[in-house]
Amino acid sequence: MRIFALVLAAGRGLRFGTDRPKQYLLLGRQPLIRHSLALLARDPRIAGVAAVIGPEDGAAFAAAAEGLALLPPVIGGATRQASALAGLEALALLPTPPDAVLIHDAARPFLSAALLGRLMDALAQAPGAIPALPVTDTIKRADAAMHVAGTIARAGLYRVQTPQAFRFAPILAAHRAAAVLPGEAAAALTDDAAVAELAGLAVALVPGEEANMKITSADDLPRAEAHLAELAGQMLPAVGTGFDVHRFAPGRPLVLCGVRVAHPLGLAGHSDADVGLHALCDAIYGALAEGDIGRHFPPSEAAWKDADSARFLVHAGGRVAARGGRIANLDVTLICERPKIAPHAAAMMARLAELLGIEASRVSVKATTTERLGFTGRMEGIAAQAMATVLVPE
Ligand code: CTP
Ligand code: MG
Repeated sequence: MRIFALVLAAGRGLRFGTDRPKQYLLLGRQPLIRHSLALLARDPRIAGVAAVIGPEDGAAFAAAAEGLALLPPVIGGATRQASALAGLEALALLPTPPDAVLIHDAARPFLSAALLGRLMDALAQAPGAIPALPVTDTIKRADAAMHVAGTIARAGLYRVQTPQAFRFAPILAAHRAAAVLPGEAAAALTDDAAVAELAGLAVALVPGEEANMKITSADDLPRAEAHLAELAGQMLPAVGTGFDVHRFAPGRPLVLCGVRVAHPLGLAGHSDADVGLHALCDAIYGALAEGDIGRHFPPSEAAWKDADSARFLVHAGGRVAARGGRIANLDVTLICERPKIAPHAAAMMARLAELLGIEASRVSVKATTTERLGFTGRMEGIAAQAMATVLVPE
């Protein structure tokens, strides 16, 4: 299933009350919107992520999203419903439209990979799925003078969150149908499930998360800062190392750190023999204490013969995401006399970052010779060593 994500960020934040829309204020050291964009962008289950932004927010968005692998932003509309529709219409124009879409509010920075998993699983049974938490407080209706006017039975009531997950074609049709509603009716559509309900789509509830809070008023930001600090304290850095060697062989392409490098000799190996990428995968698996590349992709299996090693790295990155972790930094050293690596290093860093859905500034590729000593010095092959620092929940 090809799943895309939309992050809605075209609102003005009137209730929050700052000049700059709340999604561009700093939470920790990053703009609020970047927290959810980064998590979605590095999730290997998600094929692409697009933000829906205000017509004047281009520069603020570009700064907030710098270095993240995203689709071009889409300009939103006057209501949340109009913004969601604009995002869906943009996805419908992709060469291969999505099978499913996750629609998320930029105002919720703390969505989790586990929640995404529950939503995706639920889509197998229903065309829509949303995160929900049961209401536990007693609910009152108040009159204009702020006196109690009644008590509402809370049994069967739920507070719902985003992301909300839908099969693509029915939610696009539902939003198109909702677009013709008069202003008041459209303003009442404060989530996508309300749009789905109007169209008669079945929407399943999956357990939401208390931490997945929405930033609505200025009071919410200190709460979010406190939660962020708590999360940071619960993440432990884990370091892994990797090392790999491949022998030069004639008649094979040379692929290093995901980049094809022009050279008279390639490297021998079962897969494409990308020695840098293999060392890096082992560093990531090592940080997670999840064995090595051979355990996940046994060389005895014909499927991996001449395989593009890029898929190994995507898998390793997926394991980090599945553990609720994230990559702090990666450092690869290629050890060879020839070819010269420096002219290719920037392309290699960009390619590794793209495969992992992380910022290129977290990835380093460098090289050294061994002063013509040893097998690399005799140009019999290339060696690579790598280090990965990963943050994983305690
Ligand atoms: N949103 C949007 N387009 C709109 C209105 C809202 O994309 N025309 C987005 C917001 O940016 C936000 C999410 O929908 O991420 C949920 O909306 P809300 O929390 O109400 O944000 P704002 O509309 O910005 O705030 P307010 O209602 O206080 O003005
Ligand atoms: Mg609003």
